[in-house]
Amino acid sequence: RKPLTVPALSEARRGGHKLAMLTVYDAGFARVFDDNGIDLLLVGDSLGMVVQGHDSTLPVTVDDIAYHTTCAARGVTRALLVADLPFQADATPERALDAATRLLQAGAGMVKLEGAGHKLDVIRFLAEREIPVCAHLGLTPQSVLRLGGYQVQGREDEAARGLRADAAAVADAGATLLVLECVPSSLAQAITAESSIPTIGIGAGPHCDGQVLVLHDVLGLHGSHRRPKFVKDFLAEGGSVAGAVQAFVAAVRDGSFPDEAHSYA
Ligand code: KIV
Ligand code: NA
Repeated sequence: RKPLTVPALSEARRGGHKLAMLTVYDAGFARVFDDNGIDLLLVGDSLGMVVQGHDSTLPVTVDDIAYHTTCAARGVTRALLVADLPFQADATPERALDAATRLLQAGAGMVKLEGAGHKLDVIRFLAEREIPVCAHLGLTPQSVLRLGGYQVQGREDEAARGLRADAAAVADAGATLLVLECVPSSLAQAITAESSIPTIGIGAGPHCDGQVLVLHDVLGLHGSHRRPKFVKDFLAEGGSVAGAVQAFVAAVRDGSFPDEAHSYA
């Protein structure tokens, strides 16, 4: 099986091949995801919540992401492994370059960072230094203190216009992939249609070029945590971890996930 490359992401989009992505934090899950058709694996800073038990992603450090990237990388042969730059690791271009270099040396093939604004300089700085960057717009969990919670973004006209401009700007700055989190389906559809780079949605409706979910959510491990509308337990229909992954991949590929019940109008 050939490893999935960064250029292959745009080829997939041109070919109408939807990309399936899950978060991962260790080698065991990385292996079963990789073996069952997942295209992209994300060592997300969601690990602060689902692995470490914090109530936000803010406590996560570069050391934490590097450790889990090292673990996950050992289970990957085909998927493209993406690693999050945690809170403030991307505050300046220089800091981001140091952190991103560590994560690539730990086995990631791309780094993800949240936001536009001053982050555009960070994206450009990394991209010019041969570090593939995934942007992340809409609900950006590292903004939770300013936002006051985890809500759908881009509902008002002005916010929607701002998101469309940011999506164009991150691609111009050199991002090669864009995660859209918790935005109305119609807005994600418009952004995807205008975008020069593939979009990956989470709570962003069915029109993105791919879908991502958090590992724990796909397996129904919610505990007492809030369960957002877009989350689906694929273990229930898949019957096993491998079956759940296959069901998720099939539903992403044929466009049946997310349906309206798992999207924001
Ligand atoms: O950290 C994470 O898991 C993420 C995904 C939800 C996109 O950023
Ligand atoms: Na994240």
